[in-house]
Order: sequence, then structure tokens, then C-alpha cells
Amino acid sequence: MASSLRQTPRRYSDLRLFAFGLAERVAQALGGCRFYSRRFLSPPLVRREVISRAGLPATLEGLRIALLSDLHAGPFLDSASMSGVIETTLAARPDLVVFCGDFIAHRVEAGVLLAEVMAPLAQVPLGALAVFGNHDYRGRRESEIEESFARTGWSFLRNRGQRLGELPLVVTGIEDPEEGRVLDIEAAREALEPADLEVCLCHNPSTGPSLAREGCLAVLSGHSHGRQIDLPFLRGLGPAHPGLRVELGSTTLITSRGLGVVGLPLRVGAPAEVVLIELSAG
Ligand SMILES: [Fe+2]
Ligand SMILES: [Fe+2]
Repeated sequence: MASSLRQTPRRYSDLRLFAFGLAERVAQALGGCRFYSRRFLSPPLVRREVISRAGLPATLEGLRIALLSDLHAGPFLDSASMSGVIETTLAARPDLVVFCGDFIAHRVEAGVLLAEVMAPLAQVPLGALAVFGNHDYRGRRESEIEESFARTGWSFLRNRGQRLGELPLVVTGIEDPEEGRVLDIEAAREALEPADLEVCLCHNPSTGPSLAREGCLAVLSGHSHGRQIDLPFLRGLGPAHPGLRVELGSTTLITSRGLGVVGLPLRVGAPAEVVLIELSAG
């Protein structure tokens, strides 16, 4: 199973990395962080998705999950950028908050600094759960992000599953399919009893089809940024974007357009968003 979960990392030429880095530094010097938070995060869009399944246990009816992803803390997003995101998320009154990876753009320190401002999200009734994205493994220091968020009540699903209270629902999560050293969905699913339903967190939506199965209500992902600058002649630049919502048999793959950016503090046709997912018996 592990090999089918793995995605090949995108590697860019030195020239392209230099051009990206230069554009980022210029945009940052011109006030890109403040511009981005005012233009795209004050407040972010709330996208509402309903997952309907006949026979859903009554205890899960109406359960609300807020999906956040891809903050990319660093040049264009910092703690001060987050007030609109936190207010918007809490105003949606979710039962659970999940984060689908890419806390940082480049530097682990920028992610660690977000832990305090994101602490209120762990106070919702069923808490806050997270997986890492490809950016988070920079220098193999992702555990520093984990430790800082864990001190505020967040839990990380690193090839692990976690039951939601006494509910017949387990949230599973795996390491990033590009940069995680070990991908083990079987280990994550060990927490499931036969009658349990599952929601799976996986940063890279390209792995979604390999995670879909009977009993898995949803795979929640990020990574693609909804193409960030969604113009036809730029679509080959970024990661594959499977669509915002894809039905994979009895599993729904939901891909967040994320909240932050890489490269430029700009989004076109791909608003920063919080996805509010509600479970329904239809
Ligand atoms: Fe990302
Ligand atoms: Fe990513």
C-alpha cells in the first residue's frame, strides 16, 4: 500500500528557484504580507460542503468540520495575518478543526510563531487535528512545529488515527506523500473498529484515490492552492489540482484552496478559504 501512496516530489531548476526567490523578496519588501492579509484574509471565503450518506449514525448527523490548509507562514503571512482566519473559523461554530499541511513557506521558526495565535482553534468541542505538508519537512525540523502546537492542545496525525470522543468516527492522517519518510495508512487505520466511519487527512490530493474506500466518508487535502493563480497559461506551473470536490465511489475528496501563498502574494480565481464540511444522513 505504501508505495501507491507516494508522490514524486516536484524539483525545480536552480534558475527557476532563483527567479522565484527574487520575486518573493521583492514582493515582501514592497509590503506583500500586509497587502495579502488585507486583500485575501480579511476575511477569507467560507466554502460550505455537505457530505450526505444514507445510514449515517444519528450521533454524526450535523457534525461540522472546519478544514484549513496551506498557511505558508513566512514572507506573506504572519501571526498578525491570522485574526480574520481565526474569527471566521470560530464564527462557523465547527465541532472539529483540521489542518491539512504546509504550515510554513521556508522557515520552521515562522510556523512555530503561529502556535499561540492558533491556540483558540483547539478549544472547539472536538479539538484540532493536523497533518504536515511537503513544505513542513524543511531541515527535517517539523517536530518543532508539532511541539509548539501540541502545547496549545493541537494533535498531529503522523500515520495515526484518533477517535472523536465517543463517536463512531476516527480521523486518520498520514505523512506527506512527497516528503514524509514513512507513509503508513494501515497503521493510521488500526484505531478503527469495524463499525466506525473514517475521515482521512492527507496533504496531497493526488493520493486521494489510493485512500478512498468503503467506510471512508472523506479524504481532506490541500497542497494545490486551487492553482493560486488560476489562469489557463499558468496551470502547468503548480501542483496538480483535481478539483474542489471529487466523488471517489463512496469517498468524497475535498481539496482546500488553502489560506496562504507561495511565490507571490496574489491569488486569481482561487480565493483563500476555510472549508466548512457538514455531515448529513441526506
Ligand atoms: Fe501549499
Ligand atoms: Fe504542499
